[in-house]
Amino acid sequence: MSSADAFYVTTPIYYVNDVPHIGHAYTSLACDALARFARLDGRRVFFLTGTDEHGQKVEQAAAARGLSPHAFTDTVSERFRTLADQMRFTHDDFIRTTEERHKRGVQALWRELVQRGQIYLGTYAGWYSVRDESFYAESVLVDGKAPTGAPVEWVEEPSYFFRLSAWQETLLRLYDEHPDFVLPPARRNEVVSFVKGGLQDLSVSRTSFRWGIPVPDDEGHVIYVWLDALTNYISALGYPDRDAAGYRTFWPADLHVVGKDILRFHAVFWPAFLLAAGLEPPRRIFAHGWWTVEGQKISKSLGNVIDPIELIETYGLDQTRYFLLREVPFGNDGDFSRAAMINRMNRDLANDYGNLVQRVLSLIQRNCEARVPAPDRMTEDDRALLGASLALLGRVRDEMAVQALSRALEAIFEVIGAANRYVDAQAPWALRRTDPTRMATVLFVLAETIRRIALLTQAFIPDASARILDQLAVPDEARSFEQLSEADALRPGTPLPPPFGVLPRLAAETIGAG
Ligand code: MSP
Repeated sequence: MSSADAFYVTTPIYYVNDVPHIGHAYTSLACDALARFARLDGRRVFFLTGTDEHGQKVEQAAAARGLSPHAFTDTVSERFRTLADQMRFTHDDFIRTTEERHKRGVQALWRELVQRGQIYLGTYAGWYSVRDESFYAESVLVDGKAPTGAPVEWVEEPSYFFRLSAWQETLLRLYDEHPDFVLPPARRNEVVSFVKGGLQDLSVSRTSFRWGIPVPDDEGHVIYVWLDALTNYISALGYPDRDAAGYRTFWPADLHVVGKDILRFHAVFWPAFLLAAGLEPPRRIFAHGWWTVEGQKISKSLGNVIDPIELIETYGLDQTRYFLLREVPFGNDGDFSRAAMINRMNRDLANDYGNLVQRVLSLIQRNCEARVPAPDRMTEDDRALLGASLALLGRVRDEMAVQALSRALEAIFEVIGAANRYVDAQAPWALRRTDPTRMATVLFVLAETIRRIALLTQAFIPDASARILDQLAVPDEARSFEQLSEADALRPGTPLPPPFGVLPRLAAETIGAG
């Protein structure tokens, strides 16, 4: 049983057959925001990502480039690490399925399943899609292709099978007893009806190629790449050592975030493997939607692959992170367009958030001797704004608990909107001569509101948030959500550094180039 304050979140491990694009960056980004939020909220976090390096797809991609699978996977895996660094992902571990620790975990899980009578030897005769690394029954093919549109080939070979069919009732009970096991709810219904439709035993080894983890005691077989890959979530915690600190603290995982295309592997096969091995299933699988680009599927052949690193260079890291997290409710499909991206960054980030901060900080700089102003008697408007910013943590926490990332941002930006309306209504610049005491109160209320907002936005747009907190002279050790309380409010008289702009508007020439 994992510790109560622990939070274990995982990304899928990425196939190294290709260069990363925004689709890949998206899954990890969502996990990163959730992990950052949980850490700021005082939880012990383990955030895992990595690369899925075995299987026919990777073997073929290596061969196509004239490389050994080893040499090829080293290079491509590195690209995923570079992306993770550039996106400032805060993963605690990066696992590669070619690592010894992982192989040990997979082979141990295999042995456990064999010992429990869950695996038997047979022959597989049916369709296989290398692109999906998935077996398909004849009855589900559409025009001779997989339902995903991927080409399939006929495979007939000796194979070990996992008794998936024996787990149907147990899985249905799991979905029933834990209605949030799969989110969003529409995805849960898909999984339930798939399982209700009946489960067939699953082929879990292959003999027609070599690039994989050998089946213990039968080296002619390699373990099916999905059984291999899914095990990363426990091998990274030290499994098969169930007393390892990682495993004890963090298993069962709180959350596996996956794209909708790989939900079935996570919500059906994975819990079945675990239950069959006498291990606890994860607590939740969240399936997000897919990004298209200007209405089209992202594909190399269409030439519309968006390189996340290019986005960061053109628009900025926080801008890219904000757009991807805010534009589309997490779980829905979304369409990427540069116009939408520019609109978000200029409207929400520059006009609303950046401008609020800049107006307030420069007024304080000019009119309050560059120190946190001292508040006097508070009005109802003052208390309303401070109250709204104080109530935000609870609202945002509730949204994050169900992975509603865009709604969490909406809640924060509602208060940013309220703060902007308050500045306009109070017009502190006009109070300088008429009522400097009132001006100080208004600017204090605003600075304190910004402090609270910036603490919360750290999970989503870490760089800009840090620069805002720097300008409010909030020390590094006072930046967790514990400091969102009134007791930790800005101290009047604290000297503030000269303000500088964060979250700039995108210049017209860049827009023209976009
Ligand atoms: N290797 C498997 C996962 C094994 S996990 C035990 C795999 N890898 S993948 O590289 O093909 O995909 C990884 C993730 O990227 C998936 O969650 C997938 O949904 C996501 N995306 C790939 N393209 C995407 C979009 N166009 N849009 C959003 N996410 C997409 O599957």
